[in-house]
Amino acid sequence: MSEPRKLYIKSFGCQMNVYDSHRMADSLAAGYRETDRPDGADLVVLNTCHIRARAAEKIYSELGRIKQLKTAAEKEGRQMLVAVAGCVAQAEGEEIIRRAPVVDLVIGPQSIHRLPDLVARAGAGAAIVETEFPPEDKFDHLAPPSLAATRARGVTAFVTVQEGCDKFCTFCVVPYTRGSESSRPVAKVVEEIEHLAAAGVAEVSLIGQNVNAYHGEGPDGRPWSLAQLIERIAGKTDIVRIRYMTSHPRDMGEDLIAAHRDIAKLMPFLHLPIQSGSDRVLAAMNRRHGRGEYLDLIARVRAARPDIALSSDFIVGFPGETEEDFAATINLVEQASFAQAFSFKYSPRPGTPAAEMDEQIPEAVKTERLARLQAVLERQRQAFNAALLGRALEVLFEKPGRLPGQIVGRSPYLQPVQVMAPAHGIGTLARVEITAIGTNSLFGEPIDPLPAYATTPRALATAEGA
Ligand code: SAH
Ligand code: SF4
Ligand code: F3S
Repeated sequence: MSEPRKLYIKSFGCQMNVYDSHRMADSLAAGYRETDRPDGADLVVLNTCHIRARAAEKIYSELGRIKQLKTAAEKEGRQMLVAVAGCVAQAEGEEIIRRAPVVDLVIGPQSIHRLPDLVARAGAGAAIVETEFPPEDKFDHLAPPSLAATRARGVTAFVTVQEGCDKFCTFCVVPYTRGSESSRPVAKVVEEIEHLAAAGVAEVSLIGQNVNAYHGEGPDGRPWSLAQLIERIAGKTDIVRIRYMTSHPRDMGEDLIAAHRDIAKLMPFLHLPIQSGSDRVLAAMNRRHGRGEYLDLIARVRAARPDIALSSDFIVGFPGETEEDFAATINLVEQASFAQAFSFKYSPRPGTPAAEMDEQIPEAVKTERLARLQAVLERQRQAFNAALLGRALEVLFEKPGRLPGQIVGRSPYLQPVQVMAPAHGIGTLARVEITAIGTNSLFGEPIDPLPAYATTPRALATAEGA
């Protein structure tokens, strides 16, 4: 048999892309082995993000570097195929080929199951552009990962359960790049998770652009909610921890709030983007909820699960945002109190309504507001972490830590926790006493004994050098 060809695949953007990249690698596994370097690769796939201008531009500088490698490969008489997948592929299509003729194949996120066929045809003549939304469901046609591939990816895994968005926030490209909202059937999701658990995965994150809008077909033929799906996974599989993201405030049903109280495997962490604390800006963003509703919602979530760690996304400098609007955002952050959050300068995106709005905010104002917001959010993050000092937290150990002899895992609240312990502990869940708080990690000492030899598939894989 001939040597498998080498595939280099790089993901940008959100977890949906990480998941898609894994599935692309799985689908190509018959002919390609993954490598972590682009030089020497026979196929390079960039799985791209279009959410902000800088994310999209990054792809072209990356393609500039790839071009040099492709030219070098040609000089050695090797062919290197270059594919652009993901949201830039969907949004820019042909334009990518015009700007970067190095590209052989452009493939949208809903067509990734066609990748093996397209790769087989690519590189022979003109570049191929596949950005129509296909009638078939990609999930029905994607090859499952091998046991070895799942083990090598670790103890935690993402599973896409819902895709696309019908909400059309005025700043956002996602409804255009990912298409309209759809949910995978409960049975398919549960089956995928059973396979992951059998390969040693202990934690799943159910992901979707609007994951709590999930309404997949249930075993009874009716649409099931995300809370019902979570309950099923908790009851029917060996998964020990369940997370989900990203949720939208309008889809936060009472049953999902109750799940945070009732389902022990559901982690006390909620990423719930609000974007702005000003009702006027929220209306212009077409978020279709106000700050009052958001604050009321998180009060109900906290009543169900008092220790829950809240996370959010913010945009500063949306068109027309006044100093008063911005002050309302700071005020909301102070009222809500977040364990962590992501914040961005508004980036006008071609084809979205907000890009056409008057009163675009000068860059310098955005920069200054972002710094002020981030200072408040950072203080809150540190206060949330500091309050955990001396507490016992359950940690799922994922991989070797930063220093020799350390392993690192995540707390229920998602912070990295570093402990001094042998690599045999990887893949296990143990209580840890938090003894110090660092800038980005917590440090602690195991309370429960960790295994003295490798028992979990992940620890075995680490021991074998995978
Ligand atoms: N579906 C999720 C968010 C998906 S995009 C939701 O509705 O909350 C992730 C984050 O990127 C958004 O929450 C928003 O904060 C940010 N974002 C999206 N478009 C943006 C833009 N044009 N400029 C700056 N930030 C943006
Ligand atoms: Fe974008 Fe809004 Fe949809 Fe989130 S809900 S993906 S921000 S359009
Ligand atoms: Fe980016 Fe597409 Fe995700 S635009 S954030 S990769 S859905």
